[in-house]
Amino acid sequence: MVQKDRENFGSRIAFIMALAGSAIGLGNIWRFPYMVGEYGGALFVLIYLFCAFFISLPILLSEAVIGKTARSSTYEAMGKLAPGTRWRMLGLLTVLSPFIILSFYSVVGGWSVDYLFRSCVSALDAGSQVSACELFGKVSGTSWETLLTFTVFLGMTALIIILGVKNGIEKFTKVAIPSLFVLIVAIAAYSLTLPGSWEGVRYLVTPDFSKLTSGTFAYALGQSFFSMSLGVGTVLTYSSYMKEDDSIVKSGIWTAVFDSIFAILAGFAIMPAVFSAGLEPGAGPSLVFETIPFILTKMGETAPVLSKAVTVLFFLTILGAALTSSISLYEVVELHLMERRNMSRKKACVVIFMAAWVLGSLCALSFGSLSGVKIFGETIFSFCDIFSSNYLMMLGAFLFSIFAGWKMDKSVVQGQVGKFFYFMIRWMSPVVILVIFVCNLVI
Ligand code: TRP
Repeated sequence: MVQKDRENFGSRIAFIMALAGSAIGLGNIWRFPYMVGEYGGALFVLIYLFCAFFISLPILLSEAVIGKTARSSTYEAMGKLAPGTRWRMLGLLTVLSPFIILSFYSVVGGWSVDYLFRSCVSALDAGSQVSACELFGKVSGTSWETLLTFTVFLGMTALIIILGVKNGIEKFTKVAIPSLFVLIVAIAAYSLTLPGSWEGVRYLVTPDFSKLTSGTFAYALGQSFFSMSLGVGTVLTYSSYMKEDDSIVKSGIWTAVFDSIFAILAGFAIMPAVFSAGLEPGAGPSLVFETIPFILTKMGETAPVLSKAVTVLFFLTILGAALTSSISLYEVVELHLMERRNMSRKKACVVIFMAAWVLGSLCALSFGSLSGVKIFGETIFSFCDIFSSNYLMMLGAFLFSIFAGWKMDKSVVQGQVGKFFYFMIRWMSPVVILVIFVCNLVI
């Protein structure tokens, strides 16, 4: 039931845009292309698409069913749908995970603020691979700079959240998502005009079976979880604001389609440029922040105006995509505090800002002054990333599918998602997660 005093999205499109906004983010532009580069090009893309539609989509639907049925944050939802049980603990997990992800995600968001600013005021000083690496070292390793840009990014996120679901999240994503598609298509078109770029296209469309390892599937699955924002209550929270007559399945399929298309477009924006410059596609996490500035600066030697325009648009796209995702992480914790602690939207927003600033600052500094601080052999940033992406999200996703598939009323769930997806929610998703999880521990 839609409660009277609760904010809701204004239309079906608004809900899809918000959900797609949450999905489309750094995961698509920063993570997906470098994973494609490292794990075998087209083959990785195919396995990724399989995971996205057959394993991740059912999990997205299970979160959505819970959110739409309960109309509240995860914690309260568990209280309503399974009163007196320990399922409420899941509500606490889904406060912890989005909070940790928000903190380190905002650091990367801050880098995009930094690169955007730099490319607006002057040319990026990245004309050789060494200078491109030095630039990234400066951006991520200078304490005051990384703290400043991280704070700006977190502040922008908080501002959208304070405006609320309709005036903040809905208005922003409705403009941002179509714009992001236009931008990424424009960048891909530019990339394809570069000399030698067709090698990159070939890389993206020809499967290389020699690169297939047992890890490929696990990485593709993990990436599709991250990209579709699963397992931390984001989808649940947004679905609690959806209109009563909206179809969960249609919205879910659209989200998966938009998210996958955007990831593939990002691949076509980045890989051809990488090949054109004769660089290694498997550069890893630095692909976007080192390789791309290098390529664009090089292009600037022959076409300065065009290359500058593309550089600005490129980092604007990354920033926009990062913001549509960070707001979805923020909103999960926001709704929890508003419901559980009875806080006003403003107060909850300020509390989260302060707490995320503390953890995020530690993550930001782990590329510079705190680089020596290690947790289980990892820097604070990597630890937060690995701990949340490999463990907390998997656990959350597993529990959401068990809850929707086995604990909730069959007629309610099947009535909303249909027979096929109900079967997938009950069997396919939890079993696959379990197998991958155990394999990861054993390997
Ligand atoms: N999906 C986003 C991306 O691809 C990031 C994100 C938003 C996320 N909400 C999430 C990741 C929830 C995990 C869980 O960049």
